[in-house]
Amino acid sequence: MEALKDTFGRAHNYLRISLTERCNLRCTYCMPEHGIPLSPRAQLMTADEIFALAQQFVELGVTKIRLTGGEPLVRKDFEEILSRLSGLPVELTITTNAVLIDRYITQLKSAGIKTINVSLDTLHPEKFRSITRRDDFAAVKRNIKLLLAEGFKVKINCVLIKGFNDEEIVDFVAYTETMPVSMRFIEFMPFDGNRWNKDKLVAEQEILKSVFDRWTVSQVERLTDSMNDTSRNYKVKGYAGSFAMISTVTNPFCDTCNRIRLTANGRIKNCLFSNAEVDLLTPFRAGQDILPLINQAVKAKFAVRAGMKSDESFSDPENYNNNRSMIAIGG
Ligand code: GTP
Ligand code: 5AD
Ligand code: SF4
Repeated sequence: MEALKDTFGRAHNYLRISLTERCNLRCTYCMPEHGIPLSPRAQLMTADEIFALAQQFVELGVTKIRLTGGEPLVRKDFEEILSRLSGLPVELTITTNAVLIDRYITQLKSAGIKTINVSLDTLHPEKFRSITRRDDFAAVKRNIKLLLAEGFKVKINCVLIKGFNDEEIVDFVAYTETMPVSMRFIEFMPFDGNRWNKDKLVAEQEILKSVFDRWTVSQVERLTDSMNDTSRNYKVKGYAGSFAMISTVTNPFCDTCNRIRLTANGRIKNCLFSNAEVDLLTPFRAGQDILPLINQAVKAKFAVRAGMKSDESFSDPENYNNNRSMIAIGG
């Protein structure tokens, strides 16, 4: 069946479900220092509601579901949610900080999960502590190795912040020599309370420049991206892994966007940057038909970044400060 189409003809077959607004890390680019006001528990989707809503999206053509957070693994009923969603005919996957992932290997395998995206912004323990405000570097490194040993494909998400970890671009690419991971450098994006400014941005072109200062053009191969990829993928020839850029700010990829989001409190976000959320959970609890609301949300989607057409749009904080903090979106 043809998945949910917006007014630009983009079909939305990839649903990202945020399971929780909580996280066991405190990454500065994601969570405001003072935290966020958490939704009251009664306003969060229960495991049953997540399943029922996901099922409706699958009936509307969704073929891929990603579980996000906060940190999805801190949710107490994560196993139940995972096991129920694994019964749906979708590619099921997860984005995690990997601190707790060793506890769930068996369950992830039984759920048919093949690829896991892990956040890791530095290869230095002290820097890890300063960006995450927690001490879990060794656990994350160990768990990445464990995931690979257990046969999962691993993508590593690294948000680059100028003067903090951009010096590590070359080290991270070198890390792919022996580590069969997809190393993804992400342009720092502005969300409420994350103290973004343009000077902290490391743009796709700068990332490539760092790579080509170290490796020659003929050593690096441009890989073919999948149709709806957020990332532009490359590889140093002969290395076990690959690397990529996710360039939301300087080179957006919205023309191939197939993503729609469901927040932990049951609202649709038709774009990462959209604050025009549509509440599905309240009408769903009241027994109403939510299909018109889903359609309305998809049809209201803008062509590019919720209407922020040029990167100039990022110079006005009004354009993004009314959006949620990233911790409550899930990426
Ligand atoms: P794959 O399905 O493995 O390609 O992963 P993904 O890139 O869709 O998801 P992931 O959760 O690993 O996100 C990695 C980075 O891409 C994060 O910084 C996200 O915020 C960003 N990202 C994910 N989806 C979108 C999107 O729809 N638009 C934009 N602009 N960025 C996105
Ligand atoms: N800019 C870019 N990416 C971000 N993420 C979290 N906050 C930001 C931000 N401000 C990424 C993390 C995580 C993914 C879900 O979103 O790297 O892996
Ligand atoms: Fe899709 Fe919005 Fe991301 Fe663009 S910024 S790719 S429209 S979610």
